[in-house]
Parts: sequence; structure tokens; C-alpha cells
Amino acid sequence: MKGLCCLNALLAAAVATAATFVSPQEKAPVDGAVAVFERRFVNEKAVRRATWDVTGQGVFEAFANGRRVGDDFLKPGVTECGKCRHVYSYDVTDMLKLRAGATNVLSATVSPGWWCDQMMRVAEGVKAPWQLGKEVAFRGELKLELDDGTVQKVDTDESWSAAYTGPLVAAGIYEGETYDARRGVEGLAPARINTEFTGEFRPAAAKVALRGDLERTPREMYVVCGAEGATADAFGRAKVVRRPADGERVRLSPGEMLVVDFGQNCSAVPSFEVTGKAGTELEIRCSEMLNEANGEKSRGNDGPAGTPYLASLRDAYAGIRYTLKDGTQSYMPRHTYFGYRYVGVTATGPVEFVRWRSTPVSSVTKEMERGSIVTGNDRVNKLVSNIRWGMLSNYLSSPTDCPQRDERLGWTADTQVFMNSAAYLADTREFLGKFLADLRDAQMAKGCYRCFVPNVRHVVAPWGSAGWTDAGVIIPYRLWKWYGERRFVDESWDSMTRYMKFLEGDAEPYRINHGDWLAFEHHEKLADDLSGDHMDKRQVKVLNAYFRVWVAMLMREMAAATGRTAAERHYAEEEAKLRRAFAAAYMGADGTIKDEYKGQCNDLYMLKLGLCGNAAAVEATKRDLVENIKSHGNRLQTGFLGTAILLPVLTFEVDAPELAYSLLLQDAFPSWLYSVDQGATTVWERWNGYTKEKGYGPVGMNSFNHYAYGCVLEWLFAAAAGIRPNPEQGGWRHFRLRPYPDRRLVSCSASYRTGFGTIRSAWRYDGKGGRLVWRFSVPKGSTATVTWLDGSTREYAAGDYELVSR
Ligand code: BGC
Repeated sequence: MKGLCCLNALLAAAVATAATFVSPQEKAPVDGAVAVFERRFVNEKAVRRATWDVTGQGVFEAFANGRRVGDDFLKPGVTECGKCRHVYSYDVTDMLKLRAGATNVLSATVSPGWWCDQMMRVAEGVKAPWQLGKEVAFRGELKLELDDGTVQKVDTDESWSAAYTGPLVAAGIYEGETYDARRGVEGLAPARINTEFTGEFRPAAAKVALRGDLERTPREMYVVCGAEGATADAFGRAKVVRRPADGERVRLSPGEMLVVDFGQNCSAVPSFEVTGKAGTELEIRCSEMLNEANGEKSRGNDGPAGTPYLASLRDAYAGIRYTLKDGTQSYMPRHTYFGYRYVGVTATGPVEFVRWRSTPVSSVTKEMERGSIVTGNDRVNKLVSNIRWGMLSNYLSSPTDCPQRDERLGWTADTQVFMNSAAYLADTREFLGKFLADLRDAQMAKGCYRCFVPNVRHVVAPWGSAGWTDAGVIIPYRLWKWYGERRFVDESWDSMTRYMKFLEGDAEPYRINHGDWLAFEHHEKLADDLSGDHMDKRQVKVLNAYFRVWVAMLMREMAAATGRTAAERHYAEEEAKLRRAFAAAYMGADGTIKDEYKGQCNDLYMLKLGLCGNAAAVEATKRDLVENIKSHGNRLQTGFLGTAILLPVLTFEVDAPELAYSLLLQDAFPSWLYSVDQGATTVWERWNGYTKEKGYGPVGMNSFNHYAYGCVLEWLFAAAAGIRPNPEQGGWRHFRLRPYPDRRLVSCSASYRTGFGTIRSAWRYDGKGGRLVWRFSVPKGSTATVTWLDGSTREYAAGDYELVSR
């Protein structure tokens, strides 16, 4: 009884001291204002151990006695903001004074990022009444385990002080940072309780890290002043006035611009060390590309050739405004990130830069990386590198579309088309598991998933989009198939069921039509010039029907594998009904798709989903697909959804791996290697992002770091190198090995680290016309079904092997 009383007392105490979010009393003085929080406390007794659980409404950093707590970057990440806040737990024992009676100081800096910054607004400048995320706030629970076994708590409450103050004046994910090195922390006043957030606190996941191991130094730097060759229609070429040698200090005067090329487009933060006079202002703009040619406006340029091309950032300022204090100082932003390769720097007074660096930012840490692939073709290798950088850049708290413009959103189709490629490169379980939680959090009352998640723009349209909202079913299915962990199905089952009910209960559930996004086929049929993003409406309807069939199939399979018998029956019936409806609406009497719908994307889905009416129709569809590609000069015409399955279907369904290789190795526009030949260091959003003939593509939507078309990496691992998961049983205890070699690639060597060890597959042609030598390894504890060139198939136990063709 006594024990119970004690427990009650303890619980009451816990409730009384439970942390709340706190905000400054004052209103934010400027848009994007950053708040500082502080609390001093005295140890009641000597401290044995101290743990601090912290989170923010907004991007935050926490400090104990002035030292930054934890290496995690951009805490607490992006989540469905009304539903979930991630809590970061740190052991801060070593950072505190532990003596009885000692005074310690806890503090935090919180900016509006991912809570109430530009990104979270419905539209530029509009704060809608339903917008969550109104004010920055901080929440922390410090638990001191004292020497005598008791606990002292220091939670955020009105005993904290706060103010919009400190050198970091304003920040936001799209906005960048405004920093005044002359400003100190002043005017702290008692904090106010903030009750905005009523959702769930969850342990941090998909954390963001600074990838110090990938840090870059400038590849090239030059100072420009003015331009030559300008006309009414062209900005001309920037005049280079200095090219500092490596390691040399760089002087910069008003009227000049320093351009730094870090050689790699990626999500990162630039840092510098600079000397100058207090009050001098620097402006640093980050860009993926430079203006080119003679700066012709007709080619999309927004400034003289050689200066940063900023137009494609749209409304994201994506820059730094830095005001110097006197002397030498260094700076790196910590409340934002940028997608860039170049920075352009201007100054209001003379300054001298001692050092420039760029540090990549990603949720994929070095420890998470799993696979690599190297071929005998340098340009394909460059493509692989571009894809990896796309993953590093866009697996950032959420799987985003792009890291540079005013978007950076978790577009769901982008995620589903790229996720298997990503899985070859890194262990994606925790990262995509967190995304699935976001997907469920953002699911609408009607059961429909969203086109992008978290729903930061507070979009209310309650309709689906084929291939986008279906990601709510496709992602759990694929994670389960890949990693063999059934929890991915179980955790999302109820939510997926609600989505399926939504699809089944609405005569037209997909009313947001993204179609085969950015495909050339749409434009071809509309005799259009590729400048817009509109769709061929009929094509969209067919795609909608495909995806209805596909998700019903996946649900049937998941239900069967997890013993959900009634559901299995239901989805089997549903699938059969949808197949019949598809045939009635879109197929001719011969069992192929009607002529007016024929095209690369549709033929691909006919074959992938086994929709052809009979064996002859299958053959006819294969022929149509191959002829279509050939009639386009061995070039693809597909967008996000078609490209995702293009090479796998050609190889595994059509048995035309040589045509898949022709598409891979194609360098005429549109193709993967076209961008590589234009100097790309990441994968572009659109095939026509930049062309030699026309310059920059449609400025309204033209990212140079979109991973969707990077989905070709899945084929490189699965077909070129031939490492494929067992479709019946995920988890890599058993897998398949069947390379599809091609002399044009010369060689291919891939490795993929599973929970059992490293799978290797490496083939090479011995000289011209020579034999093929294939070496492969099956890790301990696993087995592989191996298919050799002649089609013969055998089981292999763990070991290292070599096969040579005759
Ligand atoms: C995004 C895409 C996305 C698409 C769908 C774009 O703005 O960048 O990647 O899937 O919109 O509408």
C-alpha cells in the first residue's frame, strides 16, 4: 500500500513537472525570426547521470553549458506536423557540471523550419486558418539522476526565458539564413507556454546527418565583374577578373562576384572563413547550374554566362545573408540546407576569404550504405554516381523530389519508383519506415493517401492519383518483399485497407491526374512542343485503370502471405473485376490494347500486369513495344511511371536485354547519358532539363537533382549484374543471380551487403570477341539460384565461384 502511495506521489510529481512547449512572449519581429531559449539551474545533489529529451516546433539546436548537444543536423526533421514531433534523446552527463550546488545552463535555438516557414504555407505569403505550425517553440525534459537515487527534473515551462534574439536573425528551409555576427543574445524574458501541438511524441527517426566524410573543397573559383557581349536579348558573358590559385586567400570587393564550383550538385551547406570589417554584408546564393552560352534570355538564362543560374529555384531564396563582425570569423548554416553545386558571393565592402567548404547533408549515413556497381563504361559509371548523389540529396528526413527549389516535398510516386534502386545502395528500412508513418498520419478521413507527404502545404483535395497515392500500398509491399519483414505489411494494413475502400467506393477515385509524368509520349500525341506539363487525357485514364489492377494484386498477395484469408478472397475478386473492366474499356477483340492507346508506357504496363487477352496478344504487344522504341531511334518516350518499369520489362518480360542496353547506352536526346554528356553530376527531373540546342528547359519546374529517372539503377543491379531478391521470400537468405552481360558494357562488377554478408557479381569480356568470365559470391548463411548464359539454372551454397563462357 505504502509503495502505491509513493508511486502515486511520483506520478503526480511527474505530471506537475511534465514539459510543455514554450515560446517567447513577444511576437516574431520579422518573418522567419529565430528564437533563443535558456534556463539556468542548480544541482540539488551531486549528479550521476543526465539525459535530455528535446524537440522543437521548428528546426532546433540544443546546448548544454554552451556546447552543442548531439551531431544530428536539422532536428527534428519533417513530419506530419499536427500529428507527430520527433524527440531526440541525449546523454548529457559529460556536458554538465555534476557537483551538488553547481550551476548549469541549458539553451536552444529554434527557427521556423518545417514548422511555420515558407514551406509550411499554403501559398506564398498566405497563412491559411487551418495551417498548423504558427510559432516556434522548444520542449525539453532534463532528467538528473542524483547520487542519492532521487531524480531532479528540469523541464521546459514558464521558468525558462526566451526571446527572438541572437546572431541568427531569420531562417527557413526554402529561405536560407540571415545571420548578423555582431548580434549577441539579449532581452531574454520569461517564456510562455505554447499549446499548439496536440499530437504524438515519437523517438527520432530518419535523422539528418552532416556527411563530413564527403566534404568538398572548391574545384574552381573565380571572381567576375561586369559582363561583355550583352545585348537587349542576352546578358553576355561575365568578365573574369581573378582566378585565385589553390589555397590562396580570395579578395572580393563591392561590385564583384566570387563564383565557387564545388564540382558536385547535392544537398549540402557551404561554410567559409572570412576577414573583413564589422557591418559588411555578404550575400551567398546557391545554384545547381551556371548561366551559359552568351546568357541568351531565349535559352532561359537569368544572368551573364558564368554566374549562378537561379531561375529554377522559383520562390526559394535559398541563400545566406551574412553580416560580418570585425576580424576573422567562420560560418556554416545549421538551420537550413541547399541543393547546389555553385555558390555566387557578393559583398558590400572589401573582404578576404580564407577558406570555402561544402558539407553534404543526408539521412543516408556512411554506415547505411550497402551497394556499389562499376562497369566498363565511364559514362554509365558517372550515371551511377549521379544516381547515388540523388539518393543522398533527396533521402533527407523525408524522401523528397528535389533539394533546391520551393518544393523539396515527399512526392509519393517519386518515392515508389526509386525505392528499389535506393535499397541496392543503402539500408532504407528505418528511413522509409518513418515515411510510412508519415503517410499514415497524412491519410485523409476518406481513406485516400496524399500525393506528397508530409502534407506540409495543407492540400485538402480528397482525391487520388494513379501511381502517387497508390504508393501507400506499393511502398509497404516492396519493403516487405525486399527485407522479408512482414511488419511493413502489418503496420500499414488497416491504413491500406481504408485506402482500398476509398478506391472501391468512388466511381472516379483518381481525379488528380499526373499520368506518366513528364513523358514525351503525351506531347507526341498532342503534337506539342514539350514546353508544358499537360497530359493526354485518354492516356491518363488507361494508367488509372492499370494502377487499380496493380494495387488490388498487391493487396491480394499481401493478404495471402499474412493469412488474411477473407481479404485475400476479396482482393482476388476485386482484381478479377478490374481486369474485366479494363478489357471492356480499353482492349480490342484480339486481346491487345486498342490502337489509339498503344505506346511505350501502356505496352509496358500491359506486359507487366499480364493484361493481354491471350498468348498471341502478348507476342503482338512485345512486338509493338520493340517497334515503337526502334521507330524512335532506340529512344524512350516515357515519364516517371513508364521509365520505372521500362528496362526490367524489356529484359525480364520481353526477353530483349540488348534493347534495354541500347536504351541505357543511348546518348541522343532524350536519354540518361544525354544529361551525363552535358556535365550532369546528378539525375535531372526532366529529359529536357537542358539541351544543347535550346538551353534550359521549362523554368516553372526544372530541377537538376530529381532521383525519379535514377530508377534505372535497379536494372543495373538486377539485370546487368544480375543480383535479384527472391520474389517468393524477401530478406536475402535466398536470392537469384543471373547477369545479362553485353559486350557494349565491357564489364560489370557489383556488390550488395545483406544481413548475411556481401553478394558479389562481376563479369568481364576477355578482350575483343573474347570469352566471358563471371565471378560471384554467395555469402555465408544464404543460397542462390544461379542462371548461366545458356539458361541452365542451379542452386549454389555459400562460396566464391567462377564461370567462363566457351
Ligand atoms: C514534383 C514531382 C512530382 C510532381 C507531381 C512535381 O512538382 O517535383 O517530382 O511527382 O510534381 O505533380
